[in-house]
Amino acid sequence: MSREKNIDKLVIALPSGRLMQSCIALLKKTGMNLPDEKEINRKLSFYNRERDIKFIITKPQDNPTYIEFGAADIGIVGEDVLLEEKKDVYKLLDLKLGHFKIVVAAPKGKGREMFYKNNGHRLKIATKYPNIARDFFRKKGIYVEVIKLYGSVELAPSAGLADLIVDIVSTGTTLKENKLEIIDKITPLGVQLIVNRISYKTKHDKIMRLLKDIQALILAVV
Ligand code: PRP
Repeated sequence: MSREKNIDKLVIALPSGRLMQSCIALLKKTGMNLPDEKEINRKLSFYNRERDIKFIITKPQDNPTYIEFGAADIGIVGEDVLLEEKKDVYKLLDLKLGHFKIVVAAPKGKGREMFYKNNGHRLKIATKYPNIARDFFRKKGIYVEVIKLYGSVELAPSAGLADLIVDIVSTGTTLKENKLEIIDKITPLGVQLIVNRISYKTKHDKIMRLLKDIQALILAVV
């Protein structure tokens, strides 16, 4: 799909996975007629003729890449991905979809100082977010070894892979079930509507219309 083929229509990249359902619900509330989540996940792309909008489905981590390169005009992405990937995109709006934070967690009961004081060995940190973890500990002046994982991060301390983890917390259930506790909060995270810098100028009217529709919904809820 090239930018030329989509010169007029708006292309929106939706993230697969846990954010998909709330994204679809939000867009449906703006009056868009969209297929259900099951059908969307099978097709990976679909077209809304009424509004002349093409939707594509991306892995959450890839979402800002599609926007940065202009393969899609607008994306929806968790701020964890934006902080980790550091792509060149505009943040348009916090969609107020859920409460997440990124934290440092340790085996329960040991406390922060036990880990942060210099024990003569380099702290091992397991995480899906190596850049965020490195930045955080660099600013604290703590020398760490960051171990990149792709999931099930909470397993790392009990399995003997790492001392601490840096990960997303939503309900806190996964930490609790793995006998971990938060010892530092790195940052709260929102879900952002992002836009390609060129599209923001060339498709300004269409983007503003969508933005206003979504803003009105968010204001009605808050
Ligand atoms: C995320 C995150 C935690 C969990 C936190 O993982 O990495 O593991 O959700 O949610 P909670 O606080 O509500 O328990 P995800 O579900 O994306 O799966 P993964 O571990 O396979 O990446």
